[in-house]
Amino acid sequence: MKKRFLYTSVAITAIALLSSNDSFAQKKTKPVIKRNSIEQRVDSILNLMTLEEKVGQMNQYNGFWEVTGPVPKDGQAAKKYEHLKKGWVGSMLNVVGVKDVKALQKIAVEETRLGIPLIFGYDVIHGYQTISPVPLAEAASWDLEAIKKSAAIAAEEAAAVGLNWTFAPMVDISRDARWGRVMEGAGEDPFLGSKIGVARIQGFQGTDLTDHKTILACAKHFAGYGFAESGRDYNTVDVGLSTLHNVILPPFKAATKAGVRTFMNSFNELDGIPATGNKYLQRDILKGEWKFNGFMVSDWGSMGEMIAHGYAKDIKHAAELAANAGSDMDMESSGYVEHLVALVKEGKVKLEVVDDAARRILRTKFELGLFDDPYKYCDEKREKTTVGSKAMHEGVLDMAKKSIVLLKNQNDLLPLKKSGQKIAVIGALANDKSSPLGGWRGVSKDGTAVSVLEGLQKYKGNQITYEKGADVYTGTPVFGLEIKINTTDKSGFDKAVEAAKKADVVIMVLGEVGFQSGEGRSRAKIDLPGVQQELLEAVYKANPNIVLVLNNGRPLAITWADENIPAILEAWQLGTESGNAIAQVLYGDYNPSGKLPMTFPRSVGQVPIYYNQKTTGRPGPGGESVFWSHFTDEKNTPLYPFGYGLSYSKFEYSNLKMSASSFSGNGKITVSVNVKNTSKVDGKEVVQMYIKDEIGSITRPVKELKGFEMVSLKANETKTVSFTIDSKLIEFYTANSKWEAEAGDFKVFIGGSSDATLEGKFEYKN
Ligand code: BGC
Repeated sequence: MKKRFLYTSVAITAIALLSSNDSFAQKKTKPVIKRNSIEQRVDSILNLMTLEEKVGQMNQYNGFWEVTGPVPKDGQAAKKYEHLKKGWVGSMLNVVGVKDVKALQKIAVEETRLGIPLIFGYDVIHGYQTISPVPLAEAASWDLEAIKKSAAIAAEEAAAVGLNWTFAPMVDISRDARWGRVMEGAGEDPFLGSKIGVARIQGFQGTDLTDHKTILACAKHFAGYGFAESGRDYNTVDVGLSTLHNVILPPFKAATKAGVRTFMNSFNELDGIPATGNKYLQRDILKGEWKFNGFMVSDWGSMGEMIAHGYAKDIKHAAELAANAGSDMDMESSGYVEHLVALVKEGKVKLEVVDDAARRILRTKFELGLFDDPYKYCDEKREKTTVGSKAMHEGVLDMAKKSIVLLKNQNDLLPLKKSGQKIAVIGALANDKSSPLGGWRGVSKDGTAVSVLEGLQKYKGNQITYEKGADVYTGTPVFGLEIKINTTDKSGFDKAVEAAKKADVVIMVLGEVGFQSGEGRSRAKIDLPGVQQELLEAVYKANPNIVLVLNNGRPLAITWADENIPAILEAWQLGTESGNAIAQVLYGDYNPSGKLPMTFPRSVGQVPIYYNQKTTGRPGPGGESVFWSHFTDEKNTPLYPFGYGLSYSKFEYSNLKMSASSFSGNGKITVSVNVKNTSKVDGKEVVQMYIKDEIGSITRPVKELKGFEMVSLKANETKTVSFTIDSKLIEFYTANSKWEAEAGDFKVFIGGSSDATLEGKFEYKN
């Protein structure tokens, strides 16, 4: 502790900061002064730092430390350890647990010259140990409060083990179900994606970053990563300025406005420039136009990858490009720690660039309160009582129920009767206690999720039999390894068919293995993997009374199932409490209200497919002609559109009314609609408003989501739901290269999905 107090007292004297509210001065003042004091304190530390120490702040290392100390890895650990002791490390990732975090923090604070604390980052994507639904599933809830709460729970659990930074939320928009990382995002739409990104940031960061239950959020991957060609991870991204500004950037901009403290750049190139070395994105847009004053971390090794991209000739050159482009912290490339000092001395990188980056990182450390108490996240008692607590489980169960989407329910097959039924449960995923944890599952252990079978078995009134039918995969799927899908073994089919024959209802749980989506998990085929489709058809022949429960991390092309199976429930990968949530929905103890955040295609050839498409010059239908924009062997329409999802209640929309036929300038207009629950079951409906801009200085989408509201409706109840439309809402990035509202005619659609047909119109005059 000695050194820490040495520098703090020097710093305080140097800037005569005695009126600050921090613990150094032991005084309380108003928040506005706190802000100033942070800037002054950052400056005072910068004044004391050598160039090497400043560059050190810009260096992030992956965990080389476990309870006993450094873990040697080809001499790497020893070198990292040396760097740490010199104060050449600003942050660590993948070190978890109070013991390890504390041991490392102790070195940073007590053994380095200036004692600057470390930030500890980790991918808390959907939970640390108690796992909530994969983010795409959470997005299907369209429930911003629930999503915020889910992030807050994850933050609390993570903060209890010493962490103070999550690399989440991923706010990449993606229209391509082949891309494995769609499971990490909020789907295809920039409006919904922005709202959800903000909810997650608010959940992680709370209202006070110094609170030991909150952690830094990170908006990633900046930018364009979700537009990898053919959905192949890390592939080239080549989009025009309109798509960049109107589709890709809005969630990042919203994140900045919501006060996200960190950003992560991405592996991809964008229009020929790798994101890590992309000045237009990082300096001009993010730090310039948006005035972001947090810091940018590179993605894992992405600085070094600029060599493979053919953009940098070696790692030193890559470090120069990245620093000048505005990438503040280097995750695991060692480009900065090895070369940045020399680059500054050679005049290739200005000292101001390093000062600016170090300042941003130090500022964040102050905001977390780490200088006042570097061990604030290191309370072993809190770790024990928080991780895996009852409150965590209740929280993820609530989120899991809200994430389920009912896709089909012919003849009200669901909910199931609670007694007197023989139920055959079929499918390996029904008895899988690991796959529901999905990808990026924190430290949760295999086998810790509640399986569908276990969830169903809690309801005692029915007679349940289980048959696997077929494995989805062979062997044990391990993170980072190719999953070997079973494409040959059908030896369990006969037993499954026999069980189905004896049953009143068959519940088939099919889909993807937990690690089948996520980073590096792109798929060229997006149907049911392995022999599951054949199993489904074989069982269907024996007993068509099937409820298909899907477990997956991306939209799947399940056209045959949609045509033949009477009830389909999209249950994604719902995390630790998965089976309980699914059972409660199947039995009607929870009425589903989820809506798809991503379009489901009929076949992979339609991908990318998304609701806010352009009309093209030949929208059709073409009648007898083939010369219109269509496929000769597949419909243009999706299997299930964006925003779609059923309920055990039935909702009817009527009486769309506009408060006026036009508005101008800063005025506004209101559109309202009546929504009636025509069923005997209380339920919730996500009412969605879409707007179409008829003519634009650049072509406009056929419609765009511009508002949504979740309403609870008792049986037979009617509510009027209204939305306000103002010029902000109809702004877009125009041919003038700026965000503005253009005068003209607009259509409004309101309904329960992007297929909404109730229509109104208005004119905007500016
Ligand atoms: C991913 C990031 C992640 C990082 C650290 C990278 O491979 O692209 O999203 O945060 O690893 O684990």
